[in-house]
Amino acid sequence: VRLRPRVLRDVAAVSTSTTVLGTPVASPVLAAPVGYLRLAHPQGEAAWAAGAAAAGALRVLSSRSSTRVADVAAVAPGAPWWFQVYIMRDRQLTAELVRRAVATGATALALTGDTPRLGSKRRGGVGLPPGAFMPDLAAGGDEDLREDPRAAQDPATTFADVGWLREISGVPVLVKGVLRGDDARACVDAGAAGVIVSNHGGRQLDGAVATADALAEVADAVAGEAEVYVDGGVRSGVDVLRALGLGARGVLVGRPLVWALAAGGAAGVRDLLTALGAELEEALALAGARSPADVGRDLVAPPG
Ligand SMILES: Cc1cc2nc3c(=O)[nH]c(=O)nc-3n(C[C@H](O)[C@H](O)[C@H](O)COP(=O)(O)O)c2cc1C
Repeated sequence: VRLRPRVLRDVAAVSTSTTVLGTPVASPVLAAPVGYLRLAHPQGEAAWAAGAAAAGALRVLSSRSSTRVADVAAVAPGAPWWFQVYIMRDRQLTAELVRRAVATGATALALTGDTPRLGSKRRGGVGLPPGAFMPDLAAGGDEDLREDPRAAQDPATTFADVGWLREISGVPVLVKGVLRGDDARACVDAGAAGVIVSNHGGRQLDGAVATADALAEVADAVAGEAEVYVDGGVRSGVDVLRALGLGARGVLVGRPLVWALAAGGAAGVRDLLTALGAELEEALALAGARSPADVGRDLVAPPG
């Protein structure tokens, strides 16, 4: 994706700050939901959340969190976060988890739509340690439901569940995993406040289109009616600029934050998000844009 920088635009003052579903953030870079973060660091989701908060970033907590949702929320009171939802076969369990997330501060839900079931990973999975590794899914306290069919994704999930989630939670719902304009439209018609263009980091349907190639189609399909986000391979400030140019309001970053968490804990997460913000600030200036709002499709060269 090539850029078409503009000249002589007075970029003496450049700001990366923006809003996501109305919430002010330091930059359009959000922390993507990644499950089981205690595999990367002993403090797992708590350190990841503290790092994101210190960088002024919004985080999207995975429903496969290896730390209690309430404990993650308590780490950075007041810092904004959304909760990622898998609709589990047990609706009651799903509803309880969602209500707990909203009660502890989640201001929106991201329903992951690309995982009607867990795709097999070619190199096999990483084994999870014994014990209540997903404590919010521990039924009576210690009984870990991770292998229990009740906690598995419900393959019968449909667009109607966007409305169901909205109803039980009272907060806006985004749908994550959208790769087509018609699906984006259907999400918005079903009441979604936003869509996240994602192929789950290439971890669900092998051969799915790259998100950079799907983004413009999705953005055009819901233009002005819903916010559009994207994830998958966003690795630099220039990548963020590309996404904004193709129609995203913001991007989510997954794996790099896991690596930063493993290497440097909360400070690692903070420093990576801060560095991405600084790179975006430079990219905006060099492209002749003063803010994310200043970036339009004209900044991106047409395919080919
Ligand atoms: C180890 C791992 C666990 C993930 N867990 C979740 C999850 O629980 N829920 C979800 O919606 N996406 C999950 N994802 C997908 C990420 O949110 C994101 O879509 C993907 O990693 C692409 O972004 P990236 O290239 O910046 O990593 C996971 C990805 C990875 C690598």
